[in-house]
Amino acid sequence: MPTTIKSVFNLETSTNTPLGLDTTNYHEALVANCLDGLPPFEESSYNPSGEPAIKYIQPPNPGWKFGESVESTELGRKWMEGAKFEDDWEHFDAEKEENRKIYTLMISGIQPRPIAFVSSVSATGEENIAPFSFFQALSPSPPLIMISALNAPRVKDTTANIQATKEFTVNIISLPWIVQANAASIDAPVHISEWEVAGLTKEPSTHVRAPRVKESAFSIECTLFDKYDIVHPDTGVSTSTITFGLIKCIHVRKDVLNARGLPDPAKLQSVSRLGDISYGLTTEAFRLPRPSWASDGETIEKILEERQKAE
Ligand SMILES: Cc1cc2nc3c(=O)[nH]c(=O)nc-3n(C[C@H](O)[C@H](O)[C@H](O)COP(=O)(O)O)c2cc1C
Repeated sequence: MPTTIKSVFNLETSTNTPLGLDTTNYHEALVANCLDGLPPFEESSYNPSGEPAIKYIQPPNPGWKFGESVESTELGRKWMEGAKFEDDWEHFDAEKEENRKIYTLMISGIQPRPIAFVSSVSATGEENIAPFSFFQALSPSPPLIMISALNAPRVKDTTANIQATKEFTVNIISLPWIVQANAASIDAPVHISEWEVAGLTKEPSTHVRAPRVKESAFSIECTLFDKYDIVHPDTGVSTSTITFGLIKCIHVRKDVLNARGLPDPAKLQSVSRLGDISYGLTTEAFRLPRPSWASDGETIEKILEERQKAE
C-alpha cells in the first residue's frame, strides 16, 4: 500500500497527529510530518572529524559598558519594540487558565532544557530507559541532580523503579543518536524492552545495577538521595515526583574532552528540549566573563555617579 502523507508541517500548530495518512507505520508518518519543506540534515556539518559542530562567535554588543540599556544597540532597540505598550502582552493567570495551557506555556517558554536519559531497573529486574527534560544539576557538594516525572495518567516506570531499587543512571544524549533516544519515550508495556525498541546498547555500570548507555559520551551513575512528591493543594493528589540523585560516578568519553579535561560542547553535541516536540542543537556559542565587584566595583560606582549627575 503506498504511503500518502498530507503535508502538515507547521511550526505554529506542531502536532503529534498525522493527517491525511495512509500507512501502516504510524511513527514513520509522524516523522514524515516533521520533514516536509525543510532542508535535509547535513551530516558532514556535524562530523567531529570535519568541521567543528559549534562555531564560536563574538557576543552581541562587545563594547557594552556597565549600566548601558538594551536599547543602546540596534538589535536591542528592535527587541524592545515588542514591549512598548500594555497591549503588547498576554497574561496567563494560572488559577484561571486550563492546566494544559500553563503546562504547554511552561515547556515552550522554559527552554532550552537539558535532557536526562534515565536508565533504571525494577525490583524484579526489568530494565527501563526514558528521557526526562525536567532535569537539572542541583548541588556540587554533595553532587546532586534532579529529575521530575509526572504521575498522571500513570506513575512512570522510571519513578517506580528508582523508588524500588534506589539506583539509576543519567545519560546525556548526543546528536548522532537522538532518534533512538526519542523512541525510548514510548509508553511500552513492562515486558517490552525500550532498549531494544530504541536500538541502544547497555554497558554495565560500576556502582549501580542500572546499566549506562554505551552510545552516551557522558553518563552519571546515581543512587536515590531523596524524593519529593508534589501534591496538588486542591486535590491532595500526587501529580509529580521529584527524584534527587546522588552522583556516584561519571563516565566521560575521552574524545569529547577539551584540553582542560572537561566536555567540549562542540564535541559532545548534546541535544536539548525546546517546546512541544522540538529539539535544539547548539551550533553557535560565545563566551562572556562573569563580572566581579572586587575587580569592577570602583568603575561601576563612577559610571553610576556620572549618570546620576547627567540626569
Ligand atoms: C525529550 C523528552 C523529554 C521528556 N521529559 C519528561 C519529563 O521531564 N517528565 C515526564 O514525566 N515525562 C517526560 N517525557 C515523557 C517520558 O519520557 C515518557 O512518558 C516515557 O514513556 C516514560 O517512560 P517510563 O514509564 O518507562 O519511565 C519526556 C519525553 C521526551 C521525548
